[in-house]
Amino acid sequence: MKRILVTGSAGQIGSELVMVLREKYGNDNVIAGTNRTPPSERIKKSGPVEVCNITNKEQLYETVDKYDIDTIYNMAAILSGVGEQRPLLAWKVNMDGFHNVLECAREKELVRVMNPSSIAAFGPETPRMNTPQETVLKPRTMYGVTKVAGELLGDYYFRKFNVDIRGVRYPGIISSETLPGGGTTDYAVAIYYEAIQHGKYECFVREDTVLPMMYMPDALKGIIDLAEAPVDTLKHHCDFNMGSMSFSVKDLANEIKKHIPELEVTYKPDYRQAIADSWPQSIDDTSAREEWGWTPSFDISSMTKDMIEKLTPRLK
Ligand code: SER
Repeated sequence: MKRILVTGSAGQIGSELVMVLREKYGNDNVIAGTNRTPPSERIKKSGPVEVCNITNKEQLYETVDKYDIDTIYNMAAILSGVGEQRPLLAWKVNMDGFHNVLECAREKELVRVMNPSSIAAFGPETPRMNTPQETVLKPRTMYGVTKVAGELLGDYYFRKFNVDIRGVRYPGIISSETLPGGGTTDYAVAIYYEAIQHGKYECFVREDTVLPMMYMPDALKGIIDLAEAPVDTLKHHCDFNMGSMSFSVKDLANEIKKHIPELEVTYKPDYRQAIADSWPQSIDDTSAREEWGWTPSFDISSMTKDMIEKLTPRLK
């Protein structure tokens, strides 16, 4: 039986991942770990919640013991934008915290750890179009540095200590339940909220900025499918490229305008433009497709239709 701890369960991905895992494995078998931010009402009502800050090794170990955890989805992280404002905090959470998770898995012989990486692992020297699986990893952000180091450390733990750890390089994730916090790709979520509520949006990157993106249902399906893949089919472990769709802000605005014609978008690039410019525009995810059958379901128009249908009754 699986007993799963999801760290970062108040965050953008964690908050939805908990619910999907509870549906699949049973409410009581999925523990929502949070730090300071309380999780959503539906998480609190549907199953166990535990204060579990991954930088606090004792608290992490106690949680794992208390609930007899065998699998950790480590979704606690500081993203790229906040990471540039607070680089030492990003290192502490993304590296020291992650290392605690790995040590916990090694010492307690857990079945599996899932730890997302990101397109932030790439940098300006990386080919930006159809970015290969094996390529230059020289990020310029602290977030990216921790993601590359995390991929390498995870792979090391797999080979050296036989800890079954796996991860995907997520693109920007777009979702309707919880706002992302402190990332560079956050504009692609904020634009929907602002379009519905105010009919206008001021974007912090240029209109021609193209980044790889993914809709949340695909992001969740992907990480769970990878977790369930037989280990002997995997040649990679912690660093799977994972593509879905790529578009400019202008393309996204035009897609939203099909539903909300009055939308006006203005552009005021800030420090996050340089981060976006250092990341790929599209991703070659052949390894994920071949090794564990990755295929996304949503494109920009089906995602936009779904986002607007979900958000409009809540925000209007
Ligand atoms: N969405 C993340 C960020 O913008 C990238 O992984 O920081």
